[in-house]
Amino acid sequence: MTDLPEKDERQAKADSPIHTSGELSQAQPKPHAQNVSPSPDRQVEGQAEPQSHSQSVSPIQALADDQPNDEIEADDNEALERDSAFGDNESIASSRTSLTSGITRYRQENGRRYHAYRDGKYLFPNDEKEQDRLDLFHHVFNLLFGGKLFHAPVDNPQRVLDVGTGTGIWAIDFADQHPSSHVVGCDLSPIQPGWIPPNLEFEVDDIEDTWRHKPFNFIHMRMLGGAIKDWEALIAQAYDNLEPGGWLESVEFEVWVDCQNDGEVEMPKMIQQWQSLLTEAGERIGRTFIVAVHMKNWMEKAGFVDIREDVIKVPNSPWAKDPRWKEIGAYQQHNMLEAASAYGQAHFTRVLGWSPDEFLVLSAEVRKELKNLKYHLFSNLHIVYGQKPE
Ligand SMILES: C[S@@+](CC[C@H](N)C(=O)[O-])C[C@H]1O[C@@H](n2cnc3c(N)ncnc32)[C@H](O)[C@@H]1O
Repeated sequence: MTDLPEKDERQAKADSPIHTSGELSQAQPKPHAQNVSPSPDRQVEGQAEPQSHSQSVSPIQALADDQPNDEIEADDNEALERDSAFGDNESIASSRTSLTSGITRYRQENGRRYHAYRDGKYLFPNDEKEQDRLDLFHHVFNLLFGGKLFHAPVDNPQRVLDVGTGTGIWAIDFADQHPSSHVVGCDLSPIQPGWIPPNLEFEVDDIEDTWRHKPFNFIHMRMLGGAIKDWEALIAQAYDNLEPGGWLESVEFEVWVDCQNDGEVEMPKMIQQWQSLLTEAGERIGRTFIVAVHMKNWMEKAGFVDIREDVIKVPNSPWAKDPRWKEIGAYQQHNMLEAASAYGQAHFTRVLGWSPDEFLVLSAEVRKELKNLKYHLFSNLHIVYGQKPE
């Protein structure tokens, strides 16, 4: 098992649902505000933004206010039993683009489909199941952030890059809400829809190569843990490709499941084994999962200033008493149940040499533990943003 030097740090942070650090240590009124409704109130260029400066409580802070205690309050056992039906997987319908053969000659392996361009680089699937999971994650982020697509105080973003855009769902929403901006979504997989806002373009490319774009005002990265070989180089490249005054924002889970009540119940063993081995496989191939806890430091090193970090404790199953946290936990449980098969199959079979059947058995055990609401499972989510000096 790989040592996790950050564990102490993570544990310390896990003491509170929301943590803030960085130069701006106080919750700050946001100079910008997002139009959070889907489209009727879409913001028009030059028009005053729909939320005023008087709304000084950010959704992150609002969540913090909802959970004034260090711990998220758990629901009682009977309610948890009733809710254990949560987690039946229903897929979200999604339209997909048809594209040229080279980048769509996908690798099929053990019932899952993987990207073709730069084959073998990214070890998670890109099939419909995974796309549904990514879209569901976007919904979870909307619930967590009250519909806000970003937190950096970006003013009038003109050129925007979404690094590792996945299904492009964030980029589509961003382009919709900021019609005067030009948005680029970049990914190894051409899994984005064809019908997109006119101010958005998707490109199939490797973000670890040298970028050849005009500078951006805002660069967004979300859920890239386990994907990148040299994080410092990627962040330096983001810095170089920002206009002075431009912002970089990263949203990353720690990709580690913790148990809030680990003093009362035994830690779920199969989940521990799954994530330890996954972490080890990530280290072996040089694409670490331990990203979120380093992001602020990496941004500082690259030269970013006014860096702010918020950490939110997100339940991984519907064990919380508060209805909003329960709902978020229910969606996260669905995500985790899917992740238990997507997140690891290639790592375990290609890197650690397990047979597909051995992995299936582990994954079934992990799913069983994920469904057991006696474990108050959660993961920490880090939102970090910083500015390139003017
Ligand atoms: C977990 S998904 C996150 C997708 C999206 N950012 C979101 O939040 O929904 C990670 C994405 O990064 C893409 N990716 C991984 N390595 C990449 C690389 N070197 N260049 C471009 N995209 C990459 C994967 O193809 C995948 O779509």
